[in-house]
Amino acid sequence: MAILAPSVLAADFANMERDVTRAADAGAKWLHLDVMDGIFVPNISFGPDMVKAIRRVSPLVLDVHLMIDRPIRYVDQFCQAGADYLTVHVESDTAENIMAALDRIRQNGVKPGIVVKPNTPAEALKPFLKKVDLVLVMTVEPGFGGQKFMGHMMPKLKQLRQMLDQENPQCHLEVDGGVDLETVKLCKENGANVLVAGSAFFKTADMAAFTKEIEQ
Ligand code: DX5
Ligand code: ZN
Repeated sequence: MAILAPSVLAADFANMERDVTRAADAGAKWLHLDVMDGIFVPNISFGPDMVKAIRRVSPLVLDVHLMIDRPIRYVDQFCQAGADYLTVHVESDTAENIMAALDRIRQNGVKPGIVVKPNTPAEALKPFLKKVDLVLVMTVEPGFGGQKFMGHMMPKLKQLRQMLDQENPQCHLEVDGGVDLETVKLCKENGANVLVAGSAFFKTADMAAFTKEIEQ
């Protein structure tokens, strides 16, 4: 069964507790939290205090997506804030420092993940596949919600599914950006089992039906 991870970037920040409770009531088991620093991506969202605040009011699995430069500087803080999965961009530091960040996340008892931007090939993830519990494929340029799904990322998704089948079959394969009830079909066909949805989830009139359809 697939897993839906509603992205709180599309929630009402003034009503965060209400919105994450709505997601749980709709049957969602994960929440996706997008952290942006205004340097790695041209937008700023929130930091560890928001993760801590959501942790206080929600029992859901917190899937934290770091879009920050040199994330090793902050992984301890995000782990202590209550992340369950903590994902870093392969493009955000040297391979050596990314490796160290993944180890550090694991030492904190949190599940490490690695993510690729649209222009980064699948091969860039090869050295990290055995170390992670989640691989994330971006289907938009990271930075903003509500963008158009990039269908041409599907060959890369499929390639990563094949690489994971060989090297780490238990690892989750997640897609993020422009996922809705239409585009989700392609994502699943190409091997994704965790689907992030921001605007499509928070804008739908029936969140429970949306969750069910994504997860079926
Ligand atoms: C974009 C973020 C996404 C975003 C997805 O940088 O990583 O998680 O919230 O939003 P939608 O589903 O609206 O494309
Ligand atoms: Zn994200």
